[in-house]
Amino acid sequence: MSERVINIGLCGFGVVGQGVLDHLERKRSVLREQLGVNIVVSRIAVRNLSKARDINVDPSIVSGDALSVALDPDVEIVCELMGGTGIAREVTVAALKAGKIVITANKALLCDHGEELLSLAREHDGHLLFEASVAGGIPVIKAIREGLVINEFSSIYGILNGTCNYILTRMANEGLSYPEILVEAKELGYAEAKESLDVDGIDAAHKAVVLAYLAHGKWVALEDVRRQGITDISQEDIQFAKNSGYAVKLIAVVDRDRALNSLRVSVLPTLVSKQCSLGSVDGVHNAVAIHGDVVGETVYIGPGAGRDATASAVISDVVDAAKLLIFGGPEGGYPFLDPAPRNGSNIVLASAKDLKSRYYVRLVVVDKPGVMAEIASVLAAREVSLASVTQKEVGEDEERVSLIITTHLTTEQAILDVVEDLGNLESLEEKPFSMPIGNFA
Ligand code: HSE
Repeated sequence: MSERVINIGLCGFGVVGQGVLDHLERKRSVLREQLGVNIVVSRIAVRNLSKARDINVDPSIVSGDALSVALDPDVEIVCELMGGTGIAREVTVAALKAGKIVITANKALLCDHGEELLSLAREHDGHLLFEASVAGGIPVIKAIREGLVINEFSSIYGILNGTCNYILTRMANEGLSYPEILVEAKELGYAEAKESLDVDGIDAAHKAVVLAYLAHGKWVALEDVRRQGITDISQEDIQFAKNSGYAVKLIAVVDRDRALNSLRVSVLPTLVSKQCSLGSVDGVHNAVAIHGDVVGETVYIGPGAGRDATASAVISDVVDAAKLLIFGGPEGGYPFLDPAPRNGSNIVLASAKDLKSRYYVRLVVVDKPGVMAEIASVLAAREVSLASVTQKEVGEDEERVSLIITTHLTTEQAILDVVEDLGNLESLEEKPFSMPIGNFA
């Protein structure tokens, strides 16, 4: 009997696409042994046909037309590794309508069009697999969908952007500013093509939206994610954190309040205790802590970006797709497995008045009498209680000084109001910078 061959079409052949091909080739015999089939990359779509690449491929399988690769009748599995939401969506929609299995690493595509794409997969007996879309090499989607399937999740929080974590770690260790480090993150293949996606927290927000959907069955719109990036973080914030037993991390939170039937998704710079599991997750590593009602808290840590980590996750989906084809296949039929078993469409978004945290606020003020009294009265008017105030002595001729305040527990609404009121004071020299002080295990 001739060997069963499963053909893959790679749409996108950048850092990740080349990593997927490389590792599939290297592990061909292992996969053959495990699955009893030969997995072959039979077509590759590239954006630029003349671009030199690190990896050599037979030019006859390379095309500039991603749609023709996705719709090639011999291609059973389509890997969408192009990024963006334009042509990537067209290719994914076309392949799903043709009943194919689509694998994507594209968190922006899922965040913006996940609902549509999953219904297309359901309607046309296809599948959409996306392990590589969140937390790179960490199998966190499998953890939520499979390993923790019996749990209801109260909170998920994590470091979901490798580039930002890499930048923040080097800012802390080497005292550099973020633009200097971003250049290297790009060279290492961690960063998105548009740097704003990373440093403004958009990429982490896309990923948090995917996690919120998997855990709660609700698609939260990107504009409903409370989001702040890392561009306003200064060395003063990093040094304050270091001296107080914290690290500054960009933390994504998916919090469910069952009593209020609400959900909160946010991505914010956060002071994280060095003692807690996320506090010492450094460099390009990601970490995700998941609290389930049956299991308690589980924490997953590993490389969150880069060629090999992402390829590892994509290939785990390739193997799942191959199993679907081997054990079912369109003729025999294979069931569409809903990635989010619960329908959470009736869940409401949490109100800032119901969310509580301690906060850190940094102010740059004119160094003159009465300023501290003004600031204290703004906090008092919003019923925010001060926990500490730090002001470093500056020279007699300096006109500006930094003031760092920490608060006791207060609502997010109160701190938003305080920051707005402080920003209106004449003695403020810069926009205030604030971040929550995390209360994580
Ligand atoms: N730019 C992303 C990151 C790539 O740095 O995490 C992985 O999704």
